[in-house]
Amino acid sequence: MKKLAPSILSADFSRLAEDVMKIQKGGAHLIHVDVMDGHFVPNISFGSTVMKSLLGRTDIPFDVHLMIENPERYIDDFVTDNTEYITVHQEACTHLHRVVQQIKAAGVKAGVSLNPATSLDTLEWILEDVDMVLLMSVNPGFGGQKFIPNVMDKVRQLAEIRDRRGLDFEIEIDGGVTLDNVKTVIEAGVDIVVAGSAVFKADDIEERTKQFVELMV
Ligand code: DX5
Ligand code: ZN
Repeated sequence: MKKLAPSILSADFSRLAEDVMKIQKGGAHLIHVDVMDGHFVPNISFGSTVMKSLLGRTDIPFDVHLMIENPERYIDDFVTDNTEYITVHQEACTHLHRVVQQIKAAGVKAGVSLNPATSLDTLEWILEDVDMVLLMSVNPGFGGQKFIPNVMDKVRQLAEIRDRRGLDFEIEIDGGVTLDNVKTVIEAGVDIVVAGSAVFKADDIEERTKQFVELMV
């Protein structure tokens, strides 16, 4: 089954727990946690304290997306009983293999993310070690941007490489996903769909979550 991971970057931070209850009632599978440092990306979002404020308030596992430099320094901060995935950017890691092992040693699934202009080739020697690959379909930094269509070919190519090499990592897509394009994205081979503004900027967040979840087959 495919999974929906609404990004709390687009939630109302003054009512974060309430917004999260809405996606929980709507059946969301993961909470996508967008961490930005103002260096790797031109925006600052929030750190582990905000994520941890949700502990005990929801059972939905965290899907942490670190858009930060030197992520190895902060991995441990994001490891909680609720953390299912921690994803780092290939572009932000000099020692990517080491960081992936660090995440897995902490008992968390390890993801690696690629910006839109970064080639799949950069993952050739790490694919066997990762649990998930996150393909960015916008340039990271902000919610509410437009989906970059050529990432669809990248998804298909990655799914093809996965088959050919007999691997079982999941493929996640992040950025500009809406009810209009989510079906195409899933058909291309995506397992986990991130949606920020399309969920949290809806008039009825719970209902919108349900609409997305219905398409996660
Ligand atoms: C972009 C973030 C995304 C973003 C998605 O830097 O990684 O997770 O919040 O938001 P939408 O769905 O609005 O593009
Ligand atoms: Zn993200």
